[in-house]
Parts: sequence; structure tokens; C-alpha cells
Amino acid sequence: MSLSMSNRSTHSTRIFAIVVIFFSCYIAGIYSAARASSQVILNESHNRSQSLETSVALRDGEDMAMSRNSSRHPRWFPFYTIGRFSNDICIGNNLLLGTCVINGECSDNSGVAAGSCSTITAQAICCIYQRTCGASTTYNNTYFYNANYPAPYAGGGRCSITVTPPDSTICQLRVDFLALSLAPPTGDGVCSTDALTITGGASQVPTICGENAGQHIYVDFNGVNPISISVATSSGYTFNRQWQFQIRMLGCTSATLAPSGCLQYYMPSSGTFSSFNYVSAASSALNSIGVQGTRQLANTRYGICIRKATGMCSITYSQVSSDSYSFTLTNDVGAVDPTLLATSSVQSQECTTDYIVIPAPTQGGTAMPSDRFCGLGLVSTTTSAKPFTVYTVTDSNEDMDISNRGFYLSYSQNACPVL
Ligand SMILES: *[C@@H]1O[C@H](CO)[C@@H](O)[C@H](O)[C@H]1NC(C)=O
Ligand SMILES: *[C@@H]1O[C@H](CO)[C@@H](O)[C@H](O)[C@H]1NC(C)=O
Ligand SMILES: *[C@@H]1O[C@H](CO)[C@@H](O)[C@H](O)[C@H]1NC(C)=O
Ligand SMILES: *[C@@H]1O[C@H](CO)[C@@H](O)[C@H](O)[C@H]1NC(C)=O
Repeated sequence: MSLSMSNRSTHSTRIFAIVVIFFSCYIAGIYSAARASSQVILNESHNRSQSLETSVALRDGEDMAMSRNSSRHPRWFPFYTIGRFSNDICIGNNLLLGTCVINGECSDNSGVAAGSCSTITAQAICCIYQRTCGASTTYNNTYFYNANYPAPYAGGGRCSITVTPPDSTICQLRVDFLALSLAPPTGDGVCSTDALTITGGASQVPTICGENAGQHIYVDFNGVNPISISVATSSGYTFNRQWQFQIRMLGCTSATLAPSGCLQYYMPSSGTFSSFNYVSAASSALNSIGVQGTRQLANTRYGICIRKATGMCSITYSQVSSDSYSFTLTNDVGAVDPTLLATSSVQSQECTTDYIVIPAPTQGGTAMPSDRFCGLGLVSTTTSAKPFTVYTVTDSNEDMDISNRGFYLSYSQNACPVL
């Protein structure tokens, strides 16, 4: 008697467990269907219109689950597929960033399949979006490069890409110049031979030329209006041009959004940054008074921001010590004994043409009378003003800026004092 009862209860427990597992799988299936916009069809002979319809239906998966309306599609769709995966960011076997999608979706969208990105199915591949002149994109992590990259481009004409955010949850664009080598500015710092312009956003980007690999910029989207990234080059100037940009779209709630007013935003707690076209070597161009020109780009005004690390209270900026030209903003570099470059003796606080601003600065624990820095050297300067930002200003007149390079600074953050 007791044995038979025990048997019966074991039996019903098993049935109950099976039902629970069944529904858990079902709910999990609906949940992942709602998250993912890609799914894998079990029956590979299904034709294109069928799989498209299914995939559209799955995008509405959450609504369907809520309304329990089964008239359009079978309720059993979670079991109809062999696996689901979300459209996560992946690293392709070419080391570029991509999006995990079904193989067919990648080729339909002119992506490049760069290896598998899911353990669930071999149909999920890391899709890299690479585009050149005349393209438009709505894909995150699109790469934009000159025709035939990495081969150089001789120049001539304009090469552009238009980036449109898929919806209003996207607020910022970050463009990383993985490679960017254009003709240099004139000796007066004007990008009149080649010019990279980024327009259509809600924030300004200066016109950029010269050597800028490793630099990046942020620009705010203006609603869902497209941003145009355009490289204009003059075929009359012989130069090996080359560029490859990584284009990221950042959601309005992203932790990596740059604060307002920041053209550049550095996340590491310590590191270096430089002005555009900064290279230690002098410009080869003459300026308008016929002497060796500047490398600094004229007409810039922007913020360089550094993310405050946890537990840090102040930040210290210094010249990169291995490079004596790493702070040459105004005055005649050629007229100064090179051993005096990067020393306090040539620093000036009377800065009105080209300068950087470090808010509320201190040097050696003493507050400075001015927050502007120019001349031919920068003493290590610390500030607690937040967000950590250096502003940079250059005017349109570089006549008296002979052989300047710009700035190349290192920064490190200082821990908050222990009480
Ligand atoms: C797969 O679909 C085709 C038509 O779409 C059908 O003829 C075939 O029987 C299906 N196979 C399986 C295993 O469902
Ligand atoms: C694809 O499937 C749909 C729906 O089953 C059918 O109407 C259509 O004729 C099919 N197309 C092809 C090319 O097989
Ligand atoms: C189910 O969907 C059909 C058509 O999509 C609609 O006419 C019907 O009202 C829906 N039923 C429920 C319960 O939502
Ligand atoms: C775009 O990709 C970057 C990684 O490059 C990621 O941080 C960001 O969140 C992605 N944006 C969206 C909207 O998913």
C-alpha cells in the first residue's frame, strides 16, 4: 500500500517536473526570442520569405507572449529553432569588432563574415561592416577606409560616409582614427590641401588633416539626423594618403558617453594625449612670412576630457619627458636653445593666441594666477576641478608660431587624501 502510494507520488512528481521544465524552456525561449533579433531556422530548406517573416515575428516576440495571440504563428516557435543568440558585439578573426548575426543576414547586408561567434550554432558568424567612399551605414562598429586600404590613396576628390542612427536611443558617435594620414596643413596650420570634416551633428568637430592615427573624436547626434564623415583630397599634392576609421554609435544611457563639451574622452586612469597632427618632427612647410611653419592646426577650440577613476580626486598633466618639443604652442621654437625647451623659464601666462586651459591649476602645491598655458614649456600642473578637462584653443594666425608642434601631454590621477 505504502509502496504503491510512494510509486504514484514519484510518478506525479516526475510529471510535474517535466511540465515545469517544459514551461521553463518555453518561457526562456520566448525571453531570448524577445532579446535576440536573429534566430536559426531548423529546416534549412525554408525559403527566404518564410525565414524573413519568422524573424520579423520574433522581433515582436515579447508582445506575442504578452497577448497570448497565436493566430499568426505557432505557439511552439521556441522549439522550432535549434538555438538563439543575441546580436552581441563580437571580435572577428581579423581582430575587428563586429556583430553576431546569421550568416545570410551578414552577406545580405554586405558584411564580411569573420569567424563563428556562438557555441549554439555554426550559422552565427561575427559580421564586420566595412565601407568605403559613397557609403551610408546604420550599423554600429562600421569601418570606413580609403579605397584599396591598406594600400595608400594618391588623392583627388571627396570620399564620404553617412552615418544614420537607427533610432533616438543613440546619442553620440565616436570615431576612432585607426589610421589617418592626410596631406599636412600649410605652414600656417590650415588644412587647405586635404581635409577631414565631420558635419551634421549637434556638436562641432574641427577640420583635421596631417598625421592623426590613434586620435579619436566624439560628436553628438542631432536627433536621428545623419552625420557625414568626409575626406577631401587634392590630387595635385603627391602624398600617400590612408585612413581607416572605426565608427561607434553610443546609446543615450551608455557608460562610455563623453561628457558635454568633450571632443575627446580618455577612459584610462593615466595615459597620454596630444593635439591633432602632433609629431615630434618639425613641419616641412613654410608659413606666410616665409619661415618654417607650425604643425598645429589653426582655428580649433575643444575639450579633452579624462574619466575620473574611482577614489581619485585630482589630475596632474606633464609634458611627455622623452620629447622636448611636447609643449611648443607659441613663440619661435627655432630661436630657443633646445635644452631650454620644456623648462619653466620659457613658460608664459600671457596667452591669447594658442593656448590650453587647465581649470583651477596648481603647480608644486601653489595656486596659479591664470588657467591659461602657452609658450614653449609646461611645468607639471595639477587640478581638482571636475570633470577633468583640458581645453585647447588655436587662432587663425600662426605667423609668429615658428616650427611649433603643439602639445603631447601625459596625465595621471591622484588618490583622494586619507583623512
Ligand atoms: C522542410 O521544408 C520543406 C519545404 O519548405 C519540406 O518539404 C520538408 O518536408 C521540410 N523538412 C522537415 C524536416 O521539416
Ligand atoms: C516561399 O514560401 C512561401 C510560403 O510558404 C510560398 O508562398 C512561396 O511560393 C515560396 N517561394 C519559393 C521561391 O519557393
Ligand atoms: C489576435 O490577432 C488577430 C490578428 O492579428 C486579431 O484580430 C485578434 O483580435 C487577436 N486576438 C487577441 C486575443 O489579441
Ligand atoms: C556599439 O559598439 C560599441 C563597442 O565598439 C559599444 O560599446 C556600444 O555600446 C555599441 N552601441 C550600441 C548602441 O549597442
